[in-house]
Amino acid sequence: MDLFEHDAAVQATNDDAQTTKINTVARGYYEDPFVRYFARTGSRKSPLINRGTWVRVQAVYDSVYRFLETYRENSCRQIVSLGSGFDSLYFQLQRKGLLQEGDRFLDVDYDSVISKKVEIIRTNPELRTALRADLTQLTNACGAKTDQYILAGVDLRLVEDFKRVTEEVAGFNLKKPTLVICELVLIYMEPKYSDAVLSYLSSSFAELLLFNFEQVGPEDPFGKQMTKNIEARGSPLMGLVAYPSVRAQKERFQKFNFNAVAAMSMLEYYSKFVSASEKIRTNRLEPLDEIEEFELILEHYCTVWASRTTGDLAHIERLLPPEAG
Ligand SMILES: C[S@@+](CC[C@H](N)C(=O)[O-])C[C@H]1O[C@@H](n2cnc3c(N)ncnc32)[C@H](O)[C@@H]1O
Repeated sequence: MDLFEHDAAVQATNDDAQTTKINTVARGYYEDPFVRYFARTGSRKSPLINRGTWVRVQAVYDSVYRFLETYRENSCRQIVSLGSGFDSLYFQLQRKGLLQEGDRFLDVDYDSVISKKVEIIRTNPELRTALRADLTQLTNACGAKTDQYILAGVDLRLVEDFKRVTEEVAGFNLKKPTLVICELVLIYMEPKYSDAVLSYLSSSFAELLLFNFEQVGPEDPFGKQMTKNIEARGSPLMGLVAYPSVRAQKERFQKFNFNAVAAMSMLEYYSKFVSASEKIRTNRLEPLDEIEEFELILEHYCTVWASRTTGDLAHIERLLPPEAG
């Protein structure tokens, strides 16, 4: 497979991601009135996939809410979604009135993904209304922007390009609180590239929270099958050998001088941080008989919260989930 085919296969993972999300929303796990504009309704997914996707989305939203709440007094909060694909997070935050004037939100992905996302937004009246501002074409990169929301094309393997997009195109201020969301993206990059991205972020931003979500556990039979299935689609999990476990993920972020790092499997996250009432509610949506299989799936995904600050460490601790360590 040549590089072009590989990149196309990696970009296609965005379609899968949005299809799983639209199915999960359609089953009532969570509300997202925007996902249907960004995703094709695919074949129905199993309750296992729906439930797993819901837990993953909860972990992302939880991190975003905690970040926005912690810095609510701040005049400029910055969020960047790496490998955002067609994810609708910005629209969700707007809908819930969680963003303030001065906040910035940046979606980055390959040029071709960002161009398509911009086109979808431009041609959809509901999305345009939800934006509450007109999109203008970027002049110094592929993409478009409003005063608050920037969609910019960049290949994250070119860290200098990513730096330029973040600081010059999106105008991110290195001193302002910044949240970086990595939801199933770093794993598709060779470690030398994802390491370069993490190194740039941790050495440049003064007040930083990074959320990472990706697969772990390639050695056991389930992990071997998972790796094989994904590889067969032409988008191998390139980071999995270097960072195969929760512990390796934790050490990965410590290596880049994040001050506080918490890492756990999604199973641990689900057990500790998803409330009993939410578990009961989702059990009623779809019965889930294969509890052991569900737990096995969750064990093969890992979340990491890593924070870096030149300020008060006690205060940055509030960005991590309680009990996490
Ligand atoms: C599995 S999808 C996840 C999309 C989104 N984060 C979500 O969870 O809904 C992975 C995304 O990462 C993007 N991606 C992977 N490698 C990238 C790179 N080197 N530069 C930019 N984007 C990349 C892909 O194009 C794709 O949109």
